[in-house]
Amino acid sequence: GVSLKEAFKGDFLIGTAVNARQLDPENEAESQLIKEHFNTATPENLMKAHVLQPRWGHFNFEQADRFIAFASSNQLKVNGHTLIWHSQLPGFMRHMEDADSIRQYVVEHIRTVAGRYDGKVDSWDVVNEALDEDGTLRNSIFLRALGEDYIVEAFRLAQQAAPNTKLYYNDYNIEQPRKRAGAIALIKKIQAAGVRIDGVGIQGHWHVGSVPMEYIEQSIREFAALGVDVMFTELDLSVLPNPWNGNSAELSQTERYSKHLNPYPDGLPDSIEQAQARAYETLFRLFLKYRDQVGRVTFWGVHDGQSWLNNWPIRGRTNYPLLFDRRMMPKSAFHQIIATKYNH
Ligand code: G3I
Repeated sequence: GVSLKEAFKGDFLIGTAVNARQLDPENEAESQLIKEHFNTATPENLMKAHVLQPRWGHFNFEQADRFIAFASSNQLKVNGHTLIWHSQLPGFMRHMEDADSIRQYVVEHIRTVAGRYDGKVDSWDVVNEALDEDGTLRNSIFLRALGEDYIVEAFRLAQQAAPNTKLYYNDYNIEQPRKRAGAIALIKKIQAAGVRIDGVGIQGHWHVGSVPMEYIEQSIREFAALGVDVMFTELDLSVLPNPWNGNSAELSQTERYSKHLNPYPDGLPDSIEQAQARAYETLFRLFLKYRDQVGRVTFWGVHDGQSWLNNWPIRGRTNYPLLFDRRMMPKSAFHQIIATKYNH
């Protein structure tokens, strides 16, 4: 059968998150799937700041370099993830309070990492998840210490260190109107400062049954109108309810676990697998409609067994958000996505 990357050749790149396990020759079957279906990869955790700079001023590029080598030997483009993010900070930053130290960290981290990988990665998520749901800047260590211009400065530093690398802003829920307005203001501010920003990543962690299709379409149009690439950077469609939503807040911890941990002990029911396939199909129809604006669609993992959604928002769930099942067989969503292309 046709592979994902062949099906969408000429439309947009097809990517996956890659984690340490797939670099291990023992997981040959997983790397095989990556080689067959994807032409771009994002390191799920391997290029985050706490991995690259475990101690202040001491960098460890071992895993990142292995990932880059894996990508280059398998003809995968690379999206670096991520230079500036308030979450998963290196431990030494937890006690950092003075603005001068934090500024020094930002300058050194971007110069060192973006500089080292310029020409070796195609793009960077320069800043990740800097916005709140209401569209204002998130109250993070960076905002508190450096003020509102820290994002423009991060892009400026990245542009200097990595002139050959595309520079992106990446966030979740930025298809939602208020957060989207915040992202648009941010992109305009970077552009008005004469600093380069090449694209915006809509993460795409959605739920089957509530994919916000209209907001997604409006977002593609509005972001593209700013002259930047639009990408879907961490796509997955959870089939489990969010246990913190609605009246489930009233559930006890035990009830929460029994209701939400693994509601399908016998495997994903066919009706839900089909609903998920239709949700993915609807999304891909939209991506194809905007094939001139959408540059890349990256899934946040290869198969259901290795998705972060098995551990979030509570640990030890059994979720089914991706295109391949735990035995690495293609699911209905996979076939439906390919069919979408040929019945377009
Ligand atoms: O590797 C350790 C293991 O040794 C340890 O026993 C275990 C117990 O805590 O933790 C393991 O590390 C976990 C790591 O994933 C590897 O699986 C961390 O706790 C866990 O926090 C980490 O989660 C990652 C998360 O980002 C935080 O960095 C997820 O894999 C990763 O999918 C997720 O990705 C983020 C994007 O970067 C940004 N957008 C949202 C997206 C989903 O949260």
